[in-house]
Amino acid sequence: MVIVHVSAECYPMAKAGGLGDVVGALPKYQKKTGSESMVVMPMYRTPFLEKNEWNIVFKGNAYLGNWFFDFTIIKEATGKLGYDLYLVDIHGLLDRPKIYGYADDNDRFIGFQIAVVNWLSSWEQKPGIVHCHDHQSGLIPFMMKYCYDYQSLQFVKTVLTIHNAQYHGSMGWEKSILIPKWDSWKHGLLEWNNSINSLATGIKCADKVTTVSETYMHQLKYQSAGLEPLFEYEQGKCTGILNGIDSEVWNPATDPMVAFHYDIKTYKAGKQKNKALLCEQYNLDIKKPLIIFIGRLVGEKAADILPGAIQHALDKTNCAANFLIIGTGETPIESALNYLVQLYPGNFNTWIGYDEKVGHQAYAGADFLLMPSRVEPCGLNQMYSLRYGTIPMVRDTGGLHDTVVDMGDPDGFGIRFLHATEEDIVHAIERAISVYQDKDQMQKMILHSMAIDHSWESVVAAYENIYQSIL
Ligand code: GLC
Repeated sequence: MVIVHVSAECYPMAKAGGLGDVVGALPKYQKKTGSESMVVMPMYRTPFLEKNEWNIVFKGNAYLGNWFFDFTIIKEATGKLGYDLYLVDIHGLLDRPKIYGYADDNDRFIGFQIAVVNWLSSWEQKPGIVHCHDHQSGLIPFMMKYCYDYQSLQFVKTVLTIHNAQYHGSMGWEKSILIPKWDSWKHGLLEWNNSINSLATGIKCADKVTTVSETYMHQLKYQSAGLEPLFEYEQGKCTGILNGIDSEVWNPATDPMVAFHYDIKTYKAGKQKNKALLCEQYNLDIKKPLIIFIGRLVGEKAADILPGAIQHALDKTNCAANFLIIGTGETPIESALNYLVQLYPGNFNTWIGYDEKVGHQAYAGADFLLMPSRVEPCGLNQMYSLRYGTIPMVRDTGGLHDTVVDMGDPDGFGIRFLHATEEDIVHAIERAISVYQDKDQMQKMILHSMAIDHSWESVVAAYENIYQSIL
């Protein structure tokens, strides 16, 4: 069966967050079970594009409103990703370095989606499933069903996976002229709160809707930035499927981005050497528990309350823990963190930026990973950290709830707290400091963590069930 994933991100071509990781891995594991899974995404001008070989597979044209545009579809030539990766090139729209953040993002992604359905409708043998991801491909199920030019795709089944329901791709009705001529009786399907809402349209029109954890699926009914009644109404076709992680890429025994390799048997020496390297690089004290945060420095991840919480914890405990924060984001948060570097030299440091290698090395060398997220549909970092024997400290929400059991439980292996507040974070830090002294408990938790299997194999079966239920 041919499964076409449509996404704005796919690692290693272009990634802004977890969406890229998931779309970059899921098709690889689907292919291993015999499905013909592929990815189609925009052809941004990224280093991966420049460094790899491509073949042209299709040239087409279409209207975006009054603009008649040409587009080209190219395919990665070697198949080295483990699945076929197709890129859509539209000059003037997609040929830019960044994924998001342009004033005309709505037009860019509508143009992208038109090119995709245009291409798919030219296929003699239609795909089995078109699997869309987030709002940037949320209009595709509508276009396939109700745009006159793409009627040949009317009966092809569609799935929408929501990685983050905070972003809707909503736009004014003046944009409706950009969507290829559609059955105007269906305009209600495009509408939510007097706007065109790409995510809502995807939820209404896709045959199945999934999100990336069961708890988040449940939470969407009361916390989805305005879509709550829609999730309530459509719950019959909605399922939560926890993401997997690419356990070939994320393996401390082979990870080329980690200085000293280790596995569950050799973790003590391995992690210690990696920690020594980190502490030397970032001027930290190897004897103290090292707590890291990796991620976008934005409110959604509760990064705004991190500086205050860390300062409070350092003062309260007389600097009994060390911290390393890795990420980029909102300028005031970055400044507040940089200020802490001045205040607590030797106990606190940051790496303001985004770099895979820095991240991997930090997972390998740290003792704890802090994720106080206000919203976390699934969260991958806690799963990476488990695999690297780094104890997760997480807010009890979304996928974090589904993947981390608090150490208060007989089978617990992490630290969980209820609220994204300074008080709760400080309390979690104090618990981390005290469990760090208890070598037996630490060992038990690390061994438990490293043995947990979050690999894609079982996740692939869950998606397969979703597909089969609509085919
Ligand atoms: C988004 C979510 C994150 C999830 C990822 C992959 O980035 O914020 O929680 O893990 O998508 O599905």
